[in-house]
Amino acid sequence: MRVGVLTGGGDCPGLNAVIRAVVRKGINEYGFEFVGFRDGWRGPLEGDTMPLDTEAVRGILPRGGTILGSSRTNLMKIDNGVARVRENLSELGVDALVAIGGEDTLGVARQLTEQGLPVVGVPKTIDNDLNATDYTFGFDTAVNIATEAIDRLHTTAESHHRALIVEVMGRHAGWIALHSGMAGGANVILIPERPFDIERVVAHVESRFATKRYAPILVVAEGAHPIDGQMELSTGEKDAFGHVRLGGIGQSLADEIERRTHKEARSVVLGHVQRGGTPTAFDRVLATRLGVHAIDAVKEADFGKMVALQGTEIVRVDLAAATDKLKTVPTERYAEAEVFFG
Ligand code: F6P
Repeated sequence: MRVGVLTGGGDCPGLNAVIRAVVRKGINEYGFEFVGFRDGWRGPLEGDTMPLDTEAVRGILPRGGTILGSSRTNLMKIDNGVARVRENLSELGVDALVAIGGEDTLGVARQLTEQGLPVVGVPKTIDNDLNATDYTFGFDTAVNIATEAIDRLHTTAESHHRALIVEVMGRHAGWIALHSGMAGGANVILIPERPFDIERVVAHVESRFATKRYAPILVVAEGAHPIDGQMELSTGEKDAFGHVRLGGIGQSLADEIERRTHKEARSVVLGHVQRGGTPTAFDRVLATRLGVHAIDAVKEADFGKMVALQGTEIVRVDLAAATDKLKTVPTERYAEAEVFFG
């Protein structure tokens, strides 16, 4: 059997660990051959491939990024996209595809399987917002990077008696903000699921300043927004999947806090630092286990499935269940963090 592998969407620490696991188990236990498709769905669309054998995956377990490259190419928006993929797979003798990606990449995988193409999905996103899996690899690494940043910002904020606003990734789901904010002892955590009241935010900031010794640290997800248009926010251009490029809520908050409290406030945008570099041990293990189980699904011709972590076990779920809706932060989880606001 000849299996194609691709990585799509925003990159994520642990992608290489999945690729390695898929290839190593596929070759050693099942005698499969592999072909790497470059840059997400662009690879099969254009027939752009690279060799993927034991040698190619040696030493990549701890490496961030993806040796296959990634893109946000949306096949479904390209004329004859599916037909071109079908033709290229057949020309290359590819019998099955392992697609490693988030909601967009796996959304395409789902549509392809609905049209009869043999695809198995592996969930990837630092945002941890894919449904039907408890965690996605990359999330733990992103949370650790953000937590370290928050720890460091506490001391400089205190020295200068100023508020520091840490903007983390998360367009529609506030998982990174919630976890890093809790781990880092943030005084306010703002997430997209819960529009915030700027009056309450300012009250928390002022109560923290009132301690004299400690300065407020606010963690805000890039997709967080105020209620009732309380503040002016900038919007950016859209990508191929229609997502607005965000960035700016941290600075807007810093400006608003300065205006309302007459105290200094600074914003730090962690941005792509959260996605770069080596994965944590947790993410390496999770990514490896998902890869091992994904190639088992291919061996059993169990297509249209995504491998997922549920509890401590890796299970298979329908791609549809994984992509129907996003896994957002539930109210009860946010309430646990709110105990420590102010
Ligand atoms: O989906 C992963 C993610 O890192 C989001 O958290 C973020 O909004 C987005 O990708 C950034 O995309 P890009 O890499 O295209 O700037």
